[in-house]
Amino acid sequence: MATGDPAPRHDSAHLHVSGRALYADDIPLPANALHAAFGLSSIAHGRIREMDLAPLRRLPGVVAVAAAGDVPGVNNYSSTHHDDPIFAQGVVQYAGQPLFAVAANSYAAARKAARSGRIEYEPLPAILDIRAALAAHSYVLPSAHLVRGRPHEMLPQAARRLRGSLCIGGQDHFYLEGQIAIALPQEDGTILVHSSTQHPTEVQQIVARALGKRSNDVTVQCRRMGGGFGGKETQPALIAAAAAVLSYSTGRPIKLRVDRDDDMLMTGKRHDFLADYEVGFDTEGRVSALTLMLASRCGYSADLSGPVNDRALMHIDNAYYLEHVEVVSHRCKTHTVSNTAFRGFGGPQGMMVIEQILDEIARTLRLDPLDVRGANFYGVDSRNVTHYGQIVEDNVIHKIVDELAGSSCYRERRRALAAWNAGNPVIKRGLALTPVKFGISFTATMFNQAGALLHVYSDGTVLLNHGGTEMGQGLFTKVAQVVAAELGLPLSAIRVSATDTSKVPNTSASAASASSDLNGKAAQVAAQNIRQRLVRYACEAYEVEAHEVRFHDGLVAVGEREISFAELVGRAYQARVSLSSTGFYKTPKIEWNKETMRGRPFFYFAYGAAVSEVAIDTLTGETQLLRVDILHDVGTTLNSAIDLGQIEGGFLQGVGWLTSEELWWNALGELQTHAPSTYKIPTARDWPKQVSVRLLEGEPNRQDTIYRSKAVGEPPLMLALSVFHAIRDAIASLGPEGTLPDLAAPATPETVLRAMRALSPTAPA
Ligand code: MTE
Ligand code: HPA
Ligand code: MOS
Repeated sequence: MATGDPAPRHDSAHLHVSGRALYADDIPLPANALHAAFGLSSIAHGRIREMDLAPLRRLPGVVAVAAAGDVPGVNNYSSTHHDDPIFAQGVVQYAGQPLFAVAANSYAAARKAARSGRIEYEPLPAILDIRAALAAHSYVLPSAHLVRGRPHEMLPQAARRLRGSLCIGGQDHFYLEGQIAIALPQEDGTILVHSSTQHPTEVQQIVARALGKRSNDVTVQCRRMGGGFGGKETQPALIAAAAAVLSYSTGRPIKLRVDRDDDMLMTGKRHDFLADYEVGFDTEGRVSALTLMLASRCGYSADLSGPVNDRALMHIDNAYYLEHVEVVSHRCKTHTVSNTAFRGFGGPQGMMVIEQILDEIARTLRLDPLDVRGANFYGVDSRNVTHYGQIVEDNVIHKIVDELAGSSCYRERRRALAAWNAGNPVIKRGLALTPVKFGISFTATMFNQAGALLHVYSDGTVLLNHGGTEMGQGLFTKVAQVVAAELGLPLSAIRVSATDTSKVPNTSASAASASSDLNGKAAQVAAQNIRQRLVRYACEAYEVEAHEVRFHDGLVAVGEREISFAELVGRAYQARVSLSSTGFYKTPKIEWNKETMRGRPFFYFAYGAAVSEVAIDTLTGETQLLRVDILHDVGTTLNSAIDLGQIEGGFLQGVGWLTSEELWWNALGELQTHAPSTYKIPTARDWPKQVSVRLLEGEPNRQDTIYRSKAVGEPPLMLALSVFHAIRDAIASLGPEGTLPDLAAPATPETVLRAMRALSPTAPA
């Protein structure tokens, strides 16, 4: 980067901390606006026998009620398979499914009325979990199957073999800002929607379809989200479509802000997974063959379950070479909420499986798990082709793990820990180092494109717009830095405006961690276009050669002269030079064949590793994270403050997923953990006392990404696998050498207690 502070603060930091950042809920409403709320199904599966909503219309404050029959266009918000009704029609398929929405003069009146709907159901049998779905062959999509090599031939020949299984829990996004949309009717049948969404274009298309309108009738805007984490990739379309339908029928602005409990009941989460495996290995712990069954709970509809499960399948290797491998992946249909994108997008679940397998191999062979992991790492020049056929060209995992093992004193602490555990009957400690290798790009090649729109005003100030959305990850700051660097301006000269479908069309979701790669490059193209025009103008106006024009620090050196950027721009304007440009970018080199499951789905990989140490209380099952050391690869950082923030936040969100965030449905399929009182996300108190988070240095991206940086949004979440394995390690210390703890995720105190009991029935507990 050419200019300024290497780690400028988030462009909205001063607004975040002073409460002045505008979220959708803060947008002042027109005087005639109404508030809306959803009426939800109370049962998991059944036919709707009768739904009489007429009495609701007579309740105080109620202005309108909309159900399936009131949708003027298509009553569906699915972008893929047409299986997500906006309002349930005929049947309900999960407890919490929207049936109708009420618009009223106040938020309280709308919510009260939404709860008063009287619905008669004819209950149908409900399939609620993965095992039940597998037994019934209940799938939302066909199963996928990938084979490389000859796993079935190699398994019997292996020196040692192991079979096992693993249950991995889901996770609620718990974005601090819940789902919300505001629909504002405009002139001549057009509509403006403010949506808290990672995917404005999809909201635009689905609102248009629901209203029977065209895309150019609908504009969607999003200045920022208070967190998305994947939960706002597809689901905001439901909220926006319901608001738009009510606004269409009333002709009035509608604000639909979903209450937290309703949000948790209504919206999809991270997929929980089940894995059954058999692995063959040699006496050093090197895997020779693996067969694996993955199954996930997709819920009642497909949503993004296809690509999520594909990514899980593509990440069962994590950082390891699997020469002979077979994976079968089942996408289970259940009568629960439709699960969706969540930071890592199936990758974390896939990686959990191989990490457990390697941990069990190590314990079986009485080897340090770190050595077994090391023995299986991808090679640099050989053993470097993934099970889906992509060559790993940028392997830095050896460097990261060697450096981290040294700097965290892994070996010394391993010995100290053994001594501690020998002397402490109640508090046991555990230690683990786990690596991360995560593929960067949308697996659907089409989505790897982005656009930007850049205006330079005649006073020399710059307004930047691009297709990406800001959810706290610092995207707007990073893309503004790119424009500032290209134009030689201070960052303060660039203003980033709200994402808006009328400025940049046909955008992809801000997802797959790829937004700064994609939008950064698109904005760079736009800035370079404008710079070239300014250079051309300066050459003519000042009679210099192009190489004599240089942009730096808000100034432009033109031959011997130096003028301000604003002055050059002002003159260029008078000379009628266009000062606005679009930019477009598509990721090169990638291709993926969904049928054969072969190709190069990822432009490159992002790497990292973490060492975690935990203490567990054998009397209560409580765990405490004592220390974490992280070394993470972001290529050449675009903004080290933002990258470190993403690494810390992603890691702790992963710790929540694997230790405290438990989703619990009762036997009727009703989610019981639908509020912060029962669903425990990590807090500042869970941050360990001893922390070291460092960026890998001297390893620019080997691919030509924006300034050789790497994506950082999702990969660090998977660093939390080290915490889960440290807990496993502590539990294992209770049994004789070689015992394999049976620990499901999340490792809540109950789960830890259960695992300890299963190990040693006589242990305290
Ligand atoms: N960081 C914050 N603060 N809030 C978020 O919602 N979402 C994560 C990650 N980091 C998220 C976040 C997810 S799921 C993704 S895919 C990326 O950010 C998306 O942004 P990026 O493509 O700019 O990395
Ligand atoms: N990652 C995240 N979101 C997505 C993807 C992906 O690979 N594909 C479609 N949406
Ligand atoms: Mo992130 S799960 O790709 O929105």
